[in-house]
Amino acid sequence: MPTNDTEISILLNDAMALVERDPARTMQICTKVRALAPANLVAHNMLEQLNAPDCYGRWMRINCRIDPRDDIFHFFSRHPLAGNPIREYLSDGWRTLSELMLLLEEAGVSLTDMQQVLEFASGYGRFTRHLVKAIPGRVDCSDVLPGTAEFLREQFAVNAFYSSHNPREIEYPKQYDMVFVLSLFTHLPVNMWTPWLQNLARGIRPGGLLVFSVHNEAAATQLGVNFGDDGSHFVASSESPSLDGAVYGTTFTTRAFVEQAVVSALGSPVQVYRPCAFWEGQDGVVVRIA
Ligand SMILES: C[S@@+](CC[C@H](N)C(=O)[O-])C[C@H]1O[C@@H](n2cnc3c(N)ncnc32)[C@H](O)[C@@H]1O
Repeated sequence: MPTNDTEISILLNDAMALVERDPARTMQICTKVRALAPANLVAHNMLEQLNAPDCYGRWMRINCRIDPRDDIFHFFSRHPLAGNPIREYLSDGWRTLSELMLLLEEAGVSLTDMQQVLEFASGYGRFTRHLVKAIPGRVDCSDVLPGTAEFLREQFAVNAFYSSHNPREIEYPKQYDMVFVLSLFTHLPVNMWTPWLQNLARGIRPGGLLVFSVHNEAAATQLGVNFGDDGSHFVASSESPSLDGAVYGTTFTTRAFVEQAVVSALGSPVQVYRPCAFWEGQDGVVVRIA
């Protein structure tokens, strides 16, 4: 049975050569590759494209195409607990959807009542694919990585626009009921938090919500993080091989730091602060924009 990279590329070349004339055989080959190499996105995406009987899209009832440039997917595939990275990546968006809905419920708001939502720092749509199913036609996306906007538009029919490393340069096509920012403040240097908070707020209608995540203080302490006097600690590196560690590193903050940063940047208090709202150790922060 083929097990090495060369044999897998031979199988994939065969599949690509056959895709037009013999889709059934192509599916067989790709299913075989997927069994041998569970993180192989060429085989996965071909099975999705052909709507194979055992493709994920049929089972999950969402668009399951994954962009090979997606760093978050590669983070999943290298995770120590990875068993079936494709399924784990795709299912994790369901987790985000339920975690966001619970957080919003605590703020007295329902996601499904919202008319215009911006998923900011959306990457290649790990979560977007689930969000557009919950509120179709009401989702915009933005990220800074080249290729993201095109992928998101083509695959999920969202209005996607490019962000910038300078928050003052971002132009929002409209004002949103909510801007949701999952795991970006966990990477931004704290001296940039005020411009980021103020400029994200420009994209939100009065009375709308800014919802973002930060690293949990207790989880960071357990990891051995020593907070500075201001309640923050920044490391100039991250999981992303694509972004400069100085502008996108790893940012740890205390709850007091976050609450103070919000009041001083936006003049409004945090409405809900839910520890470990997202994943293992990211707190959820909800701010109502005046
Ligand atoms: C940890 S990933 C989270 C991705 C996505 N929110 C999710 O939950 O799957 C952080 C994302 O922030 C994006 N990002 C970094 N700097 C950004 C910026 N200046 N504007 C918008 N997005 C940015 C990265 O490209 C990456 O996709």
